[in-house]
Amino acid sequence: MNPRPSFDLLAPIYHHLERITYGPFLHRCRTAHLCQLAGSYRALVLGDGDGRFLADLLRVNPHIHVDSLDISKGMLTLARRRLDGSPVGAHRVRFVLADARSTVWPDAGYDLIVTNFFLDCFSVDELEPLIDRVAAVSLPGSLWLDGDFRLPAGRWSRAVAQVILEGMYLFFRLTTRLPARRLTDPAPFLVANGFTLTSEFTWLRGFLSSRLWMRRGTIPP
Ligand SMILES: C[S@@+](CC[C@H](N)C(=O)[O-])C[C@H]1O[C@@H](n2cnc3c(N)ncnc32)[C@H](O)[C@@H]1O
Repeated sequence: MNPRPSFDLLAPIYHHLERITYGPFLHRCRTAHLCQLAGSYRALVLGDGDGRFLADLLRVNPHIHVDSLDISKGMLTLARRRLDGSPVGAHRVRFVLADARSTVWPDAGYDLIVTNFFLDCFSVDELEPLIDRVAAVSLPGSLWLDGDFRLPAGRWSRAVAQVILEGMYLFFRLTTRLPARRLTDPAPFLVANGFTLTSEFTWLRGFLSSRLWMRRGTIPP
């Protein structure tokens, strides 16, 4: 297995870095499908970072219970603090400090999986087994929300995106020991696990997209 990345150093400034580089776009991407998540009951949120998405999810969905798993103690501390200071229901969240590549999941039977700006942290040989393992604890009919960077279809936008991604991967490799060297599209692995794309929003000519996937079958009563 590749060495463990650590986002602890970046955690306190992550929000600011994001605002300086992408303005409001990353948070728009994370939250674009929030309304469609109002009917979920049990979520596994992977690599949520400083908890901004989590706070919004708890706000729109008053009955959901969440396992929020991250490898960074610094990120989890920020997320916990954010919820402590808000009335949205910190008691509905279980924070788990663990490496998603090897951990035994805290539970099974999730009807919602969230991987915003998380799957881009993995090399192709790590991504496939990770998605297989996560899919195994999702219920038939469950939703999988994945907001992330993508390689646009257009020739010029794709070339520009490739240059930006090279710079981003270099930056994260130096600051967090991120093992991934390039972006891998998770779509084929989700499809192989029975997920179908139900909705997608894109920004910046397709460089950013929020995809909502649904697993075949119906959620048991
Ligand atoms: C690029 S940040 C994205 C944070 C947040 N999801 C967002 O939307 O900005 C990646 C997050 O995934 C976490 N992470 C990276 N590799 C991980 C792993 N192997 N297991 C668990 N969490 C991991 C990092 O600590 C960090 O919080």
